Amino acid sequence: MAGTSFLASAAQADGVVNVYTYREPGLIQPLLDAFTKKTGIKTEVLFLNQGLEDRIAAEGQNSPADVVLTVDIGRLVNVKEKGVTQPVDDEVINANIPQEFRDPEGHWFGLTTRGRVVYASKERVQQDEITYEELADPKWKGKICMRSGQHMYNIALIASMIAHHGEEKAEEWLKGVKANLARKPDGGDRDQAQAIYAGECDIGLGNTYYVGLMMTNEKEPEQKEWANAIKVLFPNANDRGTHVNISGMALAKYSPNKENALKLMEFLSGHEAQQLYAEKNNEYPVMPGVPVSEVVASFGKIKPDTLSLAEIAKYRKAASEMVDRVGLDDGPSS
Ligand SMILES: [Fe+2]
Repeated sequence: MAGTSFLASAAQADGVVNVYTYREPGLIQPLLDAFTKKTGIKTEVLFLNQGLEDRIAAEGQNSPADVVLTVDIGRLVNVKEKGVTQPVDDEVINANIPQEFRDPEGHWFGLTTRGRVVYASKERVQQDEITYEELADPKWKGKICMRSGQHMYNIALIASMIAHHGEEKAEEWLKGVKANLARKPDGGDRDQAQAIYAGECDIGLGNTYYVGLMMTNEKEPEQKEWANAIKVLFPNANDRGTHVNISGMALAKYSPNKENALKLMEFLSGHEAQQLYAEKNNEYPVMPGVPVSEVVASFGKIKPDTLSLAEIAKYRKAASEMVDRVGLDDGPSS
């Protein structure tokens, strides 16, 4: 992790932009390197697991933060609500990023999307279509694996169920999902694929890009076997579409290198960076017309749910309370 003093000394240097991020450094470094190569502007990265918004708020007017990079609509909305961002109205960025992926006031911008899909056992699941609603069907009893219901990816999905069906119906649904769990929610998305590979469950919930990351994982080649054990099903492909979340960026309120920050933001929204996001990270670029990676293309075409991300964000708190109320994270038997 980069130290504060390092960033502080770089804070207002010429040709620098300071990035505060929740994203894994390995995932964003190739993009930042491409930016430096193109512009000569160096990037300093502060990677944090938590409390990024609070950190910027505490630093106040002296914060070295220029650009915030994060995943999840909830976190993007949080940085705005904490008052640590400023609005951006930039012709290049606005031309690159479709309106539905931008905060109407310009405080955050989506850069990529990812589908929250069903990982299904190739061996034990015959069907090639599924809906989120169906996950509560007793036919899946003892067959579903997932990570914690409180994880932001699941919160956004559950929030979308509340937005579509109302709280009461969504809660019935979530109780049904809980009853169908094979085990206590645990691990990350990739662990659900591993559990399917190991025969512990037949279906799991996970993000699209993890399948690409598993399939191409040379460091831990066993992950290729997990990926090979599953097929990707896009839930609700025949009706409202699959729930998608975003990764995105924001300009820090007191950005000391604002000009460079805007250059970085323009770059990340542009064709070259969008292609890198697709190829290296297996994410869906927000820029129309940029092709997805080969692995992601092999899943078939995604039809994203058009419910707005701002709308989903409104129900995050209700979703989190619902997860606790039904005891989702306690597993099937309680
Ligand atoms: Fe992730």
